[in-house]
Amino acid sequence: MDAILLVGGFGTRLHPLTKTLPKPLIPLANIPFVERTVHWLRDAGVDHIILSLHYNPDQFISHLNRRDHGVTFSFAREETPLGTGGAIKNCEPLLRSDCCFICNGDIFTDMDLEQMLAAHQAAQATISIALKEVDDPSRYGVIETDAHHRVLSFTEKPPRALARSRDINAGVYLFEREAFRFFPDSACSVERDIFPAMLEHDVHLHGYQAWPYWTDLGTPRDYLQAHLDILERKVVVPLSAKEVTPGCWQGAQLALAESALLRPPVILGDGVTIGAGAVIGPAVVLGDGVTVEADARVERSVLWDDVTIHRGSVVRGSILGRAAAVAGEVIEDICEDYAVRTNR
Ligand code: GDD
Ligand code: MG
Repeated sequence: MDAILLVGGFGTRLHPLTKTLPKPLIPLANIPFVERTVHWLRDAGVDHIILSLHYNPDQFISHLNRRDHGVTFSFAREETPLGTGGAIKNCEPLLRSDCCFICNGDIFTDMDLEQMLAAHQAAQATISIALKEVDDPSRYGVIETDAHHRVLSFTEKPPRALARSRDINAGVYLFEREAFRFFPDSACSVERDIFPAMLEHDVHLHGYQAWPYWTDLGTPRDYLQAHLDILERKVVVPLSAKEVTPGCWQGAQLALAESALLRPPVILGDGVTIGAGAVIGPAVVLGDGVTVEADARVERSVLWDDVTIHRGSVVRGSILGRAAAVAGEVIEDICEDYAVRTNR
């Protein structure tokens, strides 16, 4: 079965982290997020994934071709961004199966896709849209359904007071091939243009109601929260590090000073060095090759590969890009790759 993965966006709300790395390539608990998505689709029976690309396409292609992921990839590039609708239509010629999954590339969820497919087939719908109930639906596509889960209306990001439901578009769809004839060949939004037009034509859109773990990794706050949820086991995902003591996952070849303190939950990547008297945690993920020098403290933060925290520094509530270096304090901040923060 095929899947289309929409990964062409700029990830603007995650700037500056996404300046050099497209959003789906950023690590989530030390594994590039797109790999987690690819494995989630593969484990549900998908064997062919079409990546819909615009921003930094070559980075995706070389990354995914680096090793075997147990699926075949096709790549659909856009010279100018086609919007979510145009992007989906652009993938149609590459489809092999009559029914396919389509996913936003920034959705982190453990939703059961096989169950979604079974519900889609039972409903005999043209399209199924996974729903998620949230407190504030105004950031999302809001979906109203009837008692038989048939979609009645789809409103993209309405003002909060005008949202007709708390069920939102979770960014995971099943499409029958016939759905593609509603798409123009030009740029458009599947959420703003296509779904509302289909509803006007009485196309059968089924709302698949599930209660999985779900988040959109759109903002730094979402990104940090997703790490916290992994650390607190609210969602269970494969980790490259091993759980050595409860809530303390460690990679290979660590150099931990005896007087360093690990306060769980923490994940340490391979080749991490921690100096005497340093305190790591709670709620910290350190990427491969991170160095935290003596007497430094890191809490509630995500540090990507090769970051250096110099002696006595403090990092709290922050995300640090690859090879960033800190001498002083970084509090509730985001540092891009290779950033140097010196403030003491
Ligand atoms: N190829 C391509 N071309 N991909 C695109 C384009 C484009 O022009 N524009 C956006 N995308 C991709 C993004 O990379 C992302 O993976 C996905 O489409 C959705 O775009 P976002 O920018 O993340 O949208 P959003 O989060 O504001 O809203 C969407 O997701 C919500 C759930 O998280 C909508 O689908 C909402 O209806 C939904 O509730
Ligand atoms: Mg999004």
